[in-house]
Amino acid sequence: MASDFAGRLIAWQKTAGRKGLPWQDTTDPYRVWLSEIMLQQTQVATVIPYYQRFLARFPTLADLAAAPVEEVMPLWSGLGYYARARNLHKCAQAVAARYGGEFPRDAKLIAELPGIGRSTANAIASFCFGAQTPILDGNVKRVFARCFGIEGFPGTLKIEREMWTLAEQLMPADDTGIYTQAQMDLGATICTRGKPLCARCPLNDVCIAYRDGRVGELPAPRPKKAIPERESIFLVMQSEQGVLLEQRPPSGIWGGLLCLPELPEGADAAHYAKQHYGVQAEQWRELPSLRHTFTHFRLTLRPLYASVKTLPVAMEDRRRWLSAEAYAAAALPTPIRALLERARGE
Ligand code: ADE
Repeated sequence: MASDFAGRLIAWQKTAGRKGLPWQDTTDPYRVWLSEIMLQQTQVATVIPYYQRFLARFPTLADLAAAPVEEVMPLWSGLGYYARARNLHKCAQAVAARYGGEFPRDAKLIAELPGIGRSTANAIASFCFGAQTPILDGNVKRVFARCFGIEGFPGTLKIEREMWTLAEQLMPADDTGIYTQAQMDLGATICTRGKPLCARCPLNDVCIAYRDGRVGELPAPRPKKAIPERESIFLVMQSEQGVLLEQRPPSGIWGGLLCLPELPEGADAAHYAKQHYGVQAEQWRELPSLRHTFTHFRLTLRPLYASVKTLPVAMEDRRRWLSAEAYAAAALPTPIRALLERARGE
């Protein structure tokens, strides 16, 4: 690469990168692997004491593989994502069984072990065996998106493929462990998600996002899922005693609130109103609809209005006729209150 991406990162790591972390003074794949798994979803400062306790209890892969999983879990307690610990134990047993207790040197074989993905396998191979195998985690994706001005959400397969190709092209032949550590450190300490420290970045004179003032826009965020649309008819039945309102069932939208009756899908309003509410309507009229956005869907409320005569039938407790004054004081869902406002002039 013309910009000597790797060379700059390696030089930067030597002067400004994180040093003295307990897993940095070893090329023992067992220790490096353990640290990488612990660091997958957990911060360095939290990991350090767990890492040390774990190694005190299981100094070698053979010790871990020989222990029952029940003895592994307490050492993980508080780190979260417990599948990591179960996979860790499975992986130790797999290395013991398949490779006689020695991690394979080939990153592709490492990646086939339980709980180890391509990026973690490549990190281990570059740290321990000097392999020319690049990493691509969330931090690296962010650095790539900004430095090379890569558009699109990096979580998609397409962008990820592009980025793997780029990672392979940028990977240097020498100082592979330093380069891997540099990428991790740059993403964690300089090219952070919020408030990146661009003034101190070794790539700031070649970074496309920095040049274009787009550091805040890249990488592109995860696209929002389309929000489902629903539609429902609400009956506004006006009698001499007021408007008919009923309490919603306790679960579901507006649980327990007083609401206009909702017409079940496909039901005939006149028939339904007579059967369930004992009313006789002269004529139903559709009033302008209203849209309301909930967290997980958007609802179009279609009010159907009728002036009605009440028939002498017993009403359930949860149903009542309320005057405008009475429902003004009642706990109604906001869009239902808005529908009632609109219907008042009718
Ligand atoms: N996060 C993941 N791997 C790491 C490492 N080796 N050092 C610091 N942070 C990391």
